[in-house]
Amino acid sequence: MASALLSSLAAASAPPSASLSPREINKMKLNLPCTSFKNSSIKTKSFGRIRMVATTNVSRFDGVTMAPPDPILGVSEAFRADTNAMKLNLGVGAYRTEELQPYVLDVVKKAENLMLERGDNKEYLPIEGLAAFNKATAELLFGADNPVIKQQRVATVQGLSGTGSLRLAAALIERYFPGAKVVISSPTWGNHKNIFNDARVPWSEYRYYDPKTVGLDFEGMISDIKAAPDGSFVLLHGCAHNPTGIDPTPEQWEKIADVIQEKNHIPFFDVAYQGFASGSLDADAASVRLFVARDMEVLIAQSYSKNLGLYAERIGAINVVCSSADAATRVKSQLKRLARPMYSNPPVHGARIVANVVGDPTLFNEWKAEMEMMAGRIKNVRQKLFDSLSAKDKSGKDWSFILKQIGMFSFTGLNKAQSEHMTNKWHVYMTKDGRISLAGLSLAKCEYLADAIIDSFHNVS
Ligand SMILES: Cc1ncc(COP(=O)(O)O)c(C=O)c1O
Repeated sequence: MASALLSSLAAASAPPSASLSPREINKMKLNLPCTSFKNSSIKTKSFGRIRMVATTNVSRFDGVTMAPPDPILGVSEAFRADTNAMKLNLGVGAYRTEELQPYVLDVVKKAENLMLERGDNKEYLPIEGLAAFNKATAELLFGADNPVIKQQRVATVQGLSGTGSLRLAAALIERYFPGAKVVISSPTWGNHKNIFNDARVPWSEYRYYDPKTVGLDFEGMISDIKAAPDGSFVLLHGCAHNPTGIDPTPEQWEKIADVIQEKNHIPFFDVAYQGFASGSLDADAASVRLFVARDMEVLIAQSYSKNLGLYAERIGAINVVCSSADAATRVKSQLKRLARPMYSNPPVHGARIVANVVGDPTLFNEWKAEMEMMAGRIKNVRQKLFDSLSAKDKSGKDWSFILKQIGMFSFTGLNKAQSEHMTNKWHVYMTKDGRISLAGLSLAKCEYLADAIIDSFHNVS
């Protein structure tokens, strides 16, 4: 918007007192941008010539354009506005109960009660976060007996959940590997590209999803990772790939590790669903541990949003496995240096919850049981959705790809127009890439969803 300065109000020849009171003139001055004061000769006295410029709604931020709505969070906003009783929100990746209500884990409530009883203070944490949390999170990821922990070869810094931990790692890459590329799967979680763009880290994509099989394009993935410049960072989803729900098999992980080693690339894992995919913390960390066991240097971002339901607490970590304890010490010092001007030090509440749950054998076991329960509920709706689709769809289409996927999400294979039809006709809210969050689905709504998918798939091109 061009300047909103209005034309002169006071006649140049007339003394201001003739048409405007001093109070009115002062009111107009309040509306003027500062620079106008410098450049114009405004007098409030009742004599002399005056040149006045009045202004309405002028902003120094007029050059700031409107940002597009977030593709995932925007879906929730549209869902809230819909009054249809059958509406379903399968957009956001947050766990819901069978009654489709948000869920706070019992172990979280117990840990919070403990914290309250102890009267823990609210002092600043050190830049690297809570020591008990950092120890617990690394042990959970690598296994407490892993040599990398014993040899102190891991630089662990508490981060602002998965996103903040990825962002910190991106800042480290930008500073210490200038020009190095991050290669990311196509498709990937929507925020990855934003994170690397904002950190000014160049990225490109490797093939991952094969629309023909609604499965993994393994050959494409391997050949694109091979083609990336030597020493690139390869971003991998540790388990429960978002958005596809398609993970490599253990044999395929070995081959991916072979290529990454051959090319001298650096693996960079995003672990947002440990324990939430299979119900087992160890099984879901197997990919990371396989790379670490090969003595590779690896970056791993962790999140406790899903597996402990701590979405709003913003608790996670960045771990950098180095080939020596000395390198790990230096890397950690630089991560802290990057964190300090960004947010100074991380929040304490979520860190204490994780440390209390993992540090207490009873709570730890209860957590594992709750995680199995959550993962189990998602597996049940996945199975029921598949059964409903198979029973209702008389076209002979094979829907078994849904059962091969893992974790919170399912990639339905629906295209943009079909996904829009799901929302417009059936009130099923989902991202336009055909992803649905099974965590937002109940057994009771599986048949309705199957009807919506079958209609959209067969009747919209
Ligand atoms: C693949 C992936 N990485 C990272 C995150 C980060 O989540 P948060 O910042 O809430 O931990 C998510 C959340 O959906 C995700 O799916």
